[in-house]
Amino acid sequence: MKTPTFLILGHAIFGFSTVFADVTTTIVASSNYGVWEGWGTSLAWWAVAFGDRDDLADAVFSLKDATVNGVKLPGLGMNIVRYNAGATSANSINGESITKSPKVSPSRLVDGYWVDWTSSDPASSSWLWSTDAKQRTMMQKAKSRGANIFELFSNSPMWWMLYNHNPSGSDGGSSDNLQTWNQQQFAVYLSTIALYAKNNWGITFYSVEAFNEPSANWWNGLTGTQEGCHFNVATQQNVLPYLRSELNSRGLSSVLVSASDENSYDAAVATWKGLNATAKATVGQINVHGYQYAKGDRAGLYQQAVSSGKKLWNSEYGESDATGSQLISNVILDFRWLHPTAWVYWQIIDGGGWGLITGDNVAGTLSGPTQKYFVLAQLTRHIRPGMRILDSGCDYAIAAYDATAHKLVIVAVNWGDAQYLNFDLSKFATPGQSGATINVGALK
Ligand SMILES: *[C@@H]1O[C@H](CO)[C@@H](O)[C@H](O)[C@H]1NC(C)=O
Repeated sequence: MKTPTFLILGHAIFGFSTVFADVTTTIVASSNYGVWEGWGTSLAWWAVAFGDRDDLADAVFSLKDATVNGVKLPGLGMNIVRYNAGATSANSINGESITKSPKVSPSRLVDGYWVDWTSSDPASSSWLWSTDAKQRTMMQKAKSRGANIFELFSNSPMWWMLYNHNPSGSDGGSSDNLQTWNQQQFAVYLSTIALYAKNNWGITFYSVEAFNEPSANWWNGLTGTQEGCHFNVATQQNVLPYLRSELNSRGLSSVLVSASDENSYDAAVATWKGLNATAKATVGQINVHGYQYAKGDRAGLYQQAVSSGKKLWNSEYGESDATGSQLISNVILDFRWLHPTAWVYWQIIDGGGWGLITGDNVAGTLSGPTQKYFVLAQLTRHIRPGMRILDSGCDYAIAAYDATAHKLVIVAVNWGDAQYLNFDLSKFATPGQSGATINVGALK
């Protein structure tokens, strides 16, 4: 693929006269796909490894320039943080202890707080609140730089709640691993963390997500490389009401339950259709991952969300294309068809093209940013929380409107040879307004 070039138009531009009409799209001024909540990242592995780094916090969560490993980076200004409640602990209980997948990466086992089933009292020694310090440190650094939406998510229940005590999954991968008698305990675990965070960390979680790609068949305790857990839809349907009621009983009724973080748009549609009305009523927000990339029924999932009155997030996206070409292409498809109100990249630091910054969470080593970092910056720095998402009318641009500043933002990509991308703004109320300014930024 060719390296994309970007056009950022800041402020209203009106009376734009067509010169060479290579391509023209009309921005639909009357459209409204919701108020943008923000851009974010999941902490988990990269922040468990690098959570004490101010330079990384500046790069990810502020809009200032940050110097990371000698390279000056424009701050991404992300404001959404997904904090991972771990499933791992090193202790044994009555001779029972964790079982680990032979393939698991130590950096992908995240220490959890409820280390012993003998007491659900968070003040008891069954809870180890000092663990996972670095991930919490990065969450605090994010908050102090302006992050304002926090989601608590789980890849797997605590190991001792699982049939095989293995937080990478059941031995086959496609069967439930959470013991039926621990379904409520799992909800107690997440709700207790949410309350503890509010009282002790100054973090009020906006939402809690109990599942991570629950319908997948790859959360396998014998071959898995990370924490993960399969949940049949019928099991999700049991857990969701427990989670809602355990949050409520702790005074956290305003904390949303999000579900189900399925891997693909199509799986999200199937799972949502499979949940019964009781379970659906507990859910405030549908989360979906973007791993179906250019495929999948984005519009169908949006329709489900709208008709159910639920918010919709793309809560996890990642791939190995370090150029950012795939990322921008899929983000545009999301804005055009899925209409999420938030978009969350999976890991800031990773290898193999997956990271925005290349690094090794096991070795603790960092190298430089990928081009994908700068591609995402074009989005995160300009499409800002509070803006109204508009219909760009095309598959090569996204548009948002800041009603307070009377500012229209268009982020566009040109995939081919040099050409004019024309934006017809005639549907706005005051075309031809004098004094309008134009900022154009291009990325090589
Ligand atoms: C939904 O399923 C749960 C159990 O999974 C059950 O308790 C509840 O009554 C069901 N609700 C409806 C409306 O069928």
